[in-house]
Amino acid sequence: MAVLQTPRLLLRPLVLEDAEPLQVVFGDPAVMQFGDGVRDLAWIREWIKTVIRTQYPIGLGVLAVTIIPDPIPIGFCGLSYYPSISPGGQFEVGFRLGQHYWGQGYATEAATAILRKTFTETKIEKLVCLIDPNNWRSIRVAEKLGMSLEREVMLPGYTHPDILFAISRSQYLAQD
Ligand SMILES: CC(C)(COP(=O)(O)OP(=O)(O)OC[C@H]1O[C@@H](n2cnc3c(N)ncnc32)[C@H](O)[C@@H]1OP(=O)(O)O)[C@@H](O)C(=O)NCCC(=O)NCCS
Repeated sequence: MAVLQTPRLLLRPLVLEDAEPLQVVFGDPAVMQFGDGVRDLAWIREWIKTVIRTQYPIGLGVLAVTIIPDPIPIGFCGLSYYPSISPGGQFEVGFRLGQHYWGQGYATEAATAILRKTFTETKIEKLVCLIDPNNWRSIRVAEKLGMSLEREVMLPGYTHPDILFAISRSQYLAQD
């Protein structure tokens, strides 16, 4: 997996040593509110191992988000493949940052780099964000990425639908 640089951030592949600092993400109920709840250090370590083993070899997987020049991750951002969104599956851009870093444009800056790399260097035709309808911060990030609301999606085991934001390669390339 390549390293991506933005004006303020470096996005780089996760390493096992990122597990402890990423507790500011996975261990914080506010960060995990729209997710499966908080996770402990052992879970984070297994998650990183799984991303490295199963996602990076096929060009997917989230990257550690770091603020230049500090190498410690403040969160993650990157691509996942979600077969459960629709029969053909979808490529999702995901983002999750430590609460201390919210509201400074970091998620938008990181995800913008992911969109640029995806639409200029891969054959992926469309990217989506699957978002809880109450997650206003994520909805705002999706809008700032040029995504538009496509439809509601009821995932297996959920009691209410999420909303799917999407942007196609042609929509992305047509942006200023
Ligand atoms: C979602 C998340 C990654 C956003 O990170 P961030 O770095 O704060 O995002 P940005 O600063 O780039 O943009 C946030 C936008 O939401 C807006 N916002 C924040 N709270 C809001 C609210 N209650 N209602 C509407 N907009 C809101 C901000 O004003 C900002 O928009 P602006 O730039 O137009 O002012 C971060 O909040 C997070 O990690 N949340 C928990 C994990 C999560 O829910 N991840 C997504 C799962 S789909």
